Amino acid sequence: MDALAVRTEHALLPDLANARIDRRAARRHWSRQVFAPDARVFVARHGRRAVGMIGADLKIARHRYAVLRRHTYLHSLFVLPAYRGSGVARRLVGLALAWSRRRGATLAALEMAVPNRAARRLYGTFGFVPRETRFTRRLGGRPA
Ligand SMILES: CC(C)(COP(=O)(O)OP(=O)(O)OC[C@H]1O[C@@H](n2cnc3c(N)ncnc32)[C@H](O)[C@@H]1OP(=O)(O)O)[C@@H](O)C(=O)NCCC(=O)NCCS
Repeated sequence: MDALAVRTEHALLPDLANARIDRRAARRHWSRQVFAPDARVFVARHGRRAVGMIGADLKIARHRYAVLRRHTYLHSLFVLPAYRGSGVARRLVGLALAWSRRRGATLAALEMAVPNRAARRLYGTFGFVPRETRFTRRLGGRPA
């Protein structure tokens, strides 16, 4: 599923997102993520098969003047194409937000590619609105 998610992101942002997954690095990343105390990975299953997922990372500010003490960063939402359109993502986002609230987060944030209309609509129904925009421009040369 991670490999498919990587390909999907690359299709949306070809010059920013990798085309291929480094399986070893991915395994390291996800095992850290699964055991991190301030993070959760929610997985939707159909039988034994994982069909959807979302990650939530709790960010705790240590700065004493921080306005935002605890917020959650949602990432890696993905649903296998055959399982889309039946509320899997809605359920996953709901679970991630409920977990974040229980852990004291007062705000949820995420990033998405501008052309990703499905994600924009989904998150919009949960009340997410754009607050910052990331601008990029090419500086020439070949992508590394
Ligand atoms: C975006 C994605 C997670 C939606 O998963 P899903 O399980 O099909 O979504 P749901 O069935 O829970 O739909 C919930 C809402 O999302 C929106 N939505 C989902 N698919 C949509 C589409 N193709 N076009 C427009 N809106 C869409 C709708 O608002 C929908 O609510 P509705 O059915 O009441 O209209 C899925 O298409 C996916 O995995 N895409 C590739 C990865 C990705 O874009 N991840 C998000 C990165 S920010």
